Amino acid sequence: MPQLHLRSEESSRPTDVSRAISRAPGKIILAGEHFVVLGAPAVAMAINLYSEVKVTPKNSPGVDVDADIPLRFLAGKNRNSGVSDPRQLLRPLQLAAEATLKQVVAKDRGLRVNVECEIPVAAGLGSSASTTVAIISAVARSRGIELSRKKIFKLAFIPENFLHGKPSGVDQAACIYGGLIRFNRPSNVRTVRLEKEPAIVVCDTGIHHATGTLVGGVVRKSRREKKDFRDYIAKVRDISNGVVNALREGDDVELGVLMYQNHDLLRKIGVSHPKLDHLVEVARRAGGLGAKLTGAGGGGCMIVLCRSTRDRDRMSRVLRREGGTPYKVSMDATGVESQSA
Ligand code: MEV
Repeated sequence: MPQLHLRSEESSRPTDVSRAISRAPGKIILAGEHFVVLGAPAVAMAINLYSEVKVTPKNSPGVDVDADIPLRFLAGKNRNSGVSDPRQLLRPLQLAAEATLKQVVAKDRGLRVNVECEIPVAAGLGSSASTTVAIISAVARSRGIELSRKKIFKLAFIPENFLHGKPSGVDQAACIYGGLIRFNRPSNVRTVRLEKEPAIVVCDTGIHHATGTLVGGVVRKSRREKKDFRDYIAKVRDISNGVVNALREGDDVELGVLMYQNHDLLRKIGVSHPKLDHLVEVARRAGGLGAKLTGAGGGGCMIVLCRSTRDRDRMSRVLRREGGTPYKVSMDATGVESQSA
């Protein structure tokens, strides 16, 4: 497996450029969520749902943030997102911009950050990581600096820690590098070359969650149930490595089996939800090769591995009839990118 190509140096000649745009993908996790926080490897794929960021100068100091993000989950019964006021969602975005400004030693004017995000929020698809890395990249670019991916990764921990507690870093890595990655810890991120792209449907339950609360619950459980968790982590290590091999060899049948196994383990540790389990079962009965929750769980999204790209239409119809919102996604191969505007 080739090591990721990490550009080590940012260009060191800040200019007076002050407008920039950027784009970063969302992500799905094919194996290893939650267990990655405890030391197991995870496998994640960047997907073609995007956040776009525009940075413009303003005459007063400080950072203003505007965001157009899908906030429908805050309505009605979806209260377990952990967000009571939509403006709370803007604070990590502002932190991302401020931390970047500090990094690029820009002490002059303030700036305005405009975020447009098409990724459902608090649904396990990496909306916060995507917006964060897009902001970091665009703010640096607005000062004429192209940050290395490694540096974007490091900076993204500031807003991600603020929002999620102690995340592993897999979400931001997927959004930064694009394509498919095996993530074990921040110093061990590798790209995976695919034999063929898996035909995936993502399906949103419409029930949203707070990643930090779910992760904290699993970490506490792992301390109480040490022996069980040692077994789970060993199993997930095998599953994630098996998923990498299946993807490299284009073995969809094996990949699907491993996805179902991973879902069962996630159920065992209590991060699934009846609607996720129902949709996974519906997908299995409808001939899905594999299905599992993706991301933090507790609602959010599940993913289905279909027999072919064309079969995704049929699977999407089946899932929609059962109350899910399906997205036919494909892999984003680029990751975060920015340019002066
Ligand atoms: C969330 O997309 C993935 C989790 O494993 C959290 C993390 O890795 O930080 C649940």
